Amino acid sequence: MTEAGGLQLGDALGLYLHWPYCARICPYCDFNVYRPKGDVEALLTAILADMADWRGKTGARRLASLHFGGGTPSLMQPAWIERVIDTAERLWGFEAGAEIGLEANPADRARFAAIGRAGVARLSLGVQSFDDTVLARLGRDHDAGQAREAIDAALSAFARVSVDMIYAQSGQTVDAWSRELGEALESGAGHVSAYQLTIEPGTAFGKRTERGETLAVDGDSAADLYEATQDLCASHGFPAYEVSNHARSLADQSVHNRIYWEGGDWIGVGPGAHGRLGQSSGRGRVATTACRRPADYIAAVSNAGSGIAVDGLERLAPEDDLVERAFLGLRVIDGLDLDHLLATTGCAPDAGAIDRMVGDGFLQRAGARVKLTEQGRLLADRVTREILP
Ligand SMILES: C[S@@+](CC[C@H](N)C(=O)[O-])C[C@H]1O[C@@H](n2cnc3c(N)ncnc32)[C@H](O)[C@@H]1O
Ligand code: SF4
Repeated sequence: MTEAGGLQLGDALGLYLHWPYCARICPYCDFNVYRPKGDVEALLTAILADMADWRGKTGARRLASLHFGGGTPSLMQPAWIERVIDTAERLWGFEAGAEIGLEANPADRARFAAIGRAGVARLSLGVQSFDDTVLARLGRDHDAGQAREAIDAALSAFARVSVDMIYAQSGQTVDAWSRELGEALESGAGHVSAYQLTIEPGTAFGKRTERGETLAVDGDSAADLYEATQDLCASHGFPAYEVSNHARSLADQSVHNRIYWEGGDWIGVGPGAHGRLGQSSGRGRVATTACRRPADYIAAVSNAGSGIAVDGLERLAPEDDLVERAFLGLRVIDGLDLDHLLATTGCAPDAGAIDRMVGDGFLQRAGARVKLTEQGRLLADRVTREILP
């Protein structure tokens, strides 16, 4: 059993709510996002009804986390956020110390105090950069000064604050990135997520890259930036607890993320939200996907009572469950528990390949646990692929 946010995770149940609307769409983003159109409150009504339907499926369990993700859930009216929290309390109830978290854009900083009063205790703030030129290139609707104001507003409204940063844009030097990351680490936030810019197919950045533009650094520079990230975070007392996530203490770690990375159970409501249930059922996990487009999700809840897409319910084959758990679990600092993996999926990674990866310095083994070494973390996905049967 692991611990995060001061909670023992064990048999924790998470609730993820996807709010898909954004004031504008960033050119690098491939999340399920839309500009708000029509009756936005109809989506809230559908989400509340979908939650009630989910309660019938989960039975009586208590929530260890409620996470408002997006999109931009800081665009939700604070009264709507409060209704979601009250409904979750009524339907399931929260464990003592449960995490209620929300992802926010700095542009919405004027409503942070009200969002805090609505019951959110952890804010994850999309700062991305403290350099105005980089922010403009990323298509963000805030500048560095507004990001700093947003951090101050967040620190006074929420018990826990996390700052999201993006690095490895073309031309970024280790010095320039270290200055930006240093500011995030010294901002007062207890958690920093440092994501390497990924060029996603189908996004504006993806199309510009296809036309020959270079928007991200090459592999060698990315490795230098990654190493600088690890060193700077460690020297500021923010060790990595996952490949891209750094926390000052156990209590600053994200419960929501750990449930997801460690193969726990969570429900997904809202357009395109994913869920996983049945980790301890012994019959394999069930994966759920809600209808992707807001209008389809609203129609599905109104017609069938549930937002799950027609083909959105699947019992994972043991091998698929193993692949998913290995990819996510190995990114966490404590690594994978092979005994737990075998007990939950009935399958095991390739023992010979694990020994080889240990010999090559990419993995470490202690009893039933395998984890990435620092060198292995640079190639996390490749190492994981190597050890899968
Ligand atoms: C789903 S976004 C939501 C947060 C919020 N809407 C915002 O933009 O600040 C969560 C985080 O994912 C990261 N992210 C999204 N797309 C990315 C990409 N293509 N490469 C690297 N990081 C990305 C950003 O740091 C972002 O803050
Ligand atoms: S990065 Fe955030 S604000 Fe930008 S489109 Fe994606 S979810 Fe919306």
